[in-house]
Amino acid sequence: MPDIKHYQGREQGYIKHALIERYLEPFTIKIGSKWDEIVFIDAFAGPWGAQSDDLSDTSFGIALERLARGLQVLRDVHKRSPRIRAYLIEKTPEAFRKLDAFGQRHQAKGIDVECLSGEFEDHVPILERLTRAERTFLFSLIDPKGWTGLSMAVIAPLIRRRSSEVLVNVMSSFVHRFADVDHCQESYDDYFGRPGVREIITSAAHEDRQDVVVREYCRSLRHLCGYQHVSSCVILEPDKKGIKYFMVFATNDPMGIKVFKEAEAHAAALQDEMKHAKEFGDQMPLFSAGSVVRVSESLRRKYRMLAFARVDELFQKRAMVPYVEVFCKAMAMPLVTENELLEYLRSHQSLTVSLESSRRLKPSIQKNDTVVKI
Ligand SMILES: C[S@@+](CC[C@H](N)C(=O)[O-])C[C@H]1O[C@@H](n2cnc3c(N)ncnc32)[C@H](O)[C@@H]1O
Repeated sequence: MPDIKHYQGREQGYIKHALIERYLEPFTIKIGSKWDEIVFIDAFAGPWGAQSDDLSDTSFGIALERLARGLQVLRDVHKRSPRIRAYLIEKTPEAFRKLDAFGQRHQAKGIDVECLSGEFEDHVPILERLTRAERTFLFSLIDPKGWTGLSMAVIAPLIRRRSSEVLVNVMSSFVHRFADVDHCQESYDDYFGRPGVREIITSAAHEDRQDVVVREYCRSLRHLCGYQHVSSCVILEPDKKGIKYFMVFATNDPMGIKVFKEAEAHAAALQDEMKHAKEFGDQMPLFSAGSVVRVSESLRRKYRMLAFARVDELFQKRAMVPYVEVFCKAMAMPLVTENELLEYLRSHQSLTVSLESSRRLKPSIQKNDTVVKI
């Protein structure tokens, strides 16, 4: 676990890092048991705001530690030793010096680490060439400080491929704020990689705009980068109400969504616990994440409703839908769990789950289970 004492005044970073940490180890084991090589890219690496001496409170510090752990499991349990390469990119010279020193120290752990100085955008063509091999799986972390300048047209050639996943920080609280400003039109076209999104955002009710930003970003990841499935993790403002940003995830494998949702549930529970402690003071006893009153309950309710409406939509023109499709449709929404989906399907008046085998009680995304309209 990242150490909370290193996140004073940037608690949102703790939640983001908990998400990355929880996702990357099972990712490494899952991907490394099938693929010959994993490449990890931290496109906006930092260090930025790090408070620990060993940089264990940075995205790349956490990622490399989890990749190494996953590799160890692959070697010990699966008797596999895929190659793992990491490219860490940082623009600021001072931060780069620290990053590079960290990279040198890390070489010994079985991962080839290369630190690249300068703008990520300028490195995209070379990264694209370096990661093109057929048996290579790419995971990209894209975590810029802001949003202007991060052009979809620049990142698409790198991440657009079958064997790729991406986790992007979508700064929804910034992005929606400038939507009414006409001279920002070009920034919006650039960010979403297509025209017309600024107008979609401005035509939404103010309270829905951040969700629209994320929905449209996910649409761009699907249509322009070719991903089949998307989901996201809500990162709340640490000191006030509201959402600060979303970590948006895209994959081509429903199993990727399943593993991401487990990491997201862990991050959301930690976030509830931290918000609860902040709101109700230090004198509160330490709760386990499961027992706190969930600060995010109203958000959870909203996303559950949106997720279930998406499920119902699937059945407007079809009488039978594979369970895996229903799962991915619902899990595109943050803060919704598979158990909640199953509960919804169980209590639904006109939908029922049909299992391929009577030996199981629960549907599985890896079997030919279906959801049927009755
Ligand atoms: C939000 S911070 C990254 C934090 C890091 N991912 C973490 O969680 O520990 C963004 C970093 O990207 C760097 N940066 C800004 N523009 C960049 C660019 N065009 N290319 C590469 N790095 C950039 C900044 O100097 C900063 O260190």
